[in-house]
Amino acid sequence: MTALDARPDTTQALRFPAGFRWGTATAAYQIEGAAAEDGRTPSIWDTFSRIPGKVRNGDTGDIAADHYHRTSEDIALMRRLGVTDYRFSIAWPRVQPTGRGPAVQKGLDFYRRLVDELLASGIRPVATLYHWDLPQELEDAGGWPQRETAQRFAEYAGIMAGALGDRVATWTTLNEPWCAAFLGYGNGVHAPGRTSPLASLRAAHHFNLAHGWAVRELRSRLPARCEVSLTLNLHAVRPLSDSAADVDAARRIDAVGNRIFLDPVFHGRLPEDLVRDTAPVTDWSFVRDGDLEAASAPMDSLGINYYSPTVVAAGSSPAPSPWAGAEEHVRFLPAPGPRTAMDWPVDAEGLYELLTRLRDDLPSVPLVITENGAAYDDYADPSGAVKDPERVAYLHAHLAAVHRAIEAGADVRGYFLWSLLDNFEWAYGYSKRFGIVHVDFATQRRTFKDSAHWYADVIARGGLRS
Ligand code: FCB
Repeated sequence: MTALDARPDTTQALRFPAGFRWGTATAAYQIEGAAAEDGRTPSIWDTFSRIPGKVRNGDTGDIAADHYHRTSEDIALMRRLGVTDYRFSIAWPRVQPTGRGPAVQKGLDFYRRLVDELLASGIRPVATLYHWDLPQELEDAGGWPQRETAQRFAEYAGIMAGALGDRVATWTTLNEPWCAAFLGYGNGVHAPGRTSPLASLRAAHHFNLAHGWAVRELRSRLPARCEVSLTLNLHAVRPLSDSAADVDAARRIDAVGNRIFLDPVFHGRLPEDLVRDTAPVTDWSFVRDGDLEAASAPMDSLGINYYSPTVVAAGSSPAPSPWAGAEEHVRFLPAPGPRTAMDWPVDAEGLYELLTRLRDDLPSVPLVITENGAAYDDYADPSGAVKDPERVAYLHAHLAAVHRAIEAGADVRGYFLWSLLDNFEWAYGYSKRFGIVHVDFATQRRTFKDSAHWYADVIARGGLRS
């Protein structure tokens, strides 16, 4: 310890409220592996990753970080970090392989063991029901553009509530339905790789419906103390200038990127401007009476995933684009500043903007940062250390922004760092490392990066040194 470390905290320290939840997040397909074990069937990501050219280097999640076989080791890492909570997702095709009918016992057992070991370690499990791994059979039957898929999802939610409801107190229905709908069915860079603006809008609606129906199922089966939530990757949209045309471009992206979910699930309505903007694509007649009311079943908090802001101006974007018609009116511009290995701008102000906007728009809804983090080209040096000062700087800046938002009145209850482990980063395969724990994919050896040591210190202090 240096003399500097021994100094008492100054008034500069940024403490978070007592009871603030400090976590890490992962997703099933990105870490579990064991893709064909114990009755698991292919999801759309197993299929998609096998299509040449869809995932960098032809990588798949077949083995991933082998978490299915290394659960105890990974929970030991979390104990070392001192996290209070762990956000993971359940692989639907592991527990209900065809997306219909009874659950597979071995699949349920895996998640029971995971949850029991977390609880025994004093870590609260936070379960996400859908982080993009739709059973392939349901995609073959039409996937998310079909209404039936929302019904199937609600049934699966009920099965999981029955299986884990006595031990999991915090539930999230969907992770980032924007990505699943618009990258999966709009520009096709994610599974299942379809490219239809209409399919993406239908999928978005069926995600809202699936969420609402699942909330109802969960509420009917879970003890009253349980919390139910939804995680959105809200876009922090900025117009390039305050010209009316640029401001209107930002409005369009806010409609099809944010309010397409926020309005149905919190207000039981579709944004009027969205319906107008998308008139060339659809008349929305697939929305039936009662759907929006069902979508707005009350929930306990909103999860927000934030990585970087979106800057737009009037103009047009090259196809294929995920924006369902908006691309004809909107040009996307690189935000200034440093970039991560994803080429995403580092801009913590965007998180502050989002949180204070939600404070104003949804004043009674508690907020949780369910993902935030950064990819860098990390490697273990000859001494075995993994030095990732850029990630530490990124995380520090974003946590400081969260703190500032809390001081400004945003009701933020927790922060889940993406990600615990290096993992399968979707279309980028294993080429992008988001973990605070380095994974050597040849040996599956786990190594704390400097950012993991830093995060452990943040959690132990309940905040930032300054
Ligand atoms: C989010 C996803 C998550 C991860 C991060 C980097 O969009 O929810 O699975 O890939 O991005």
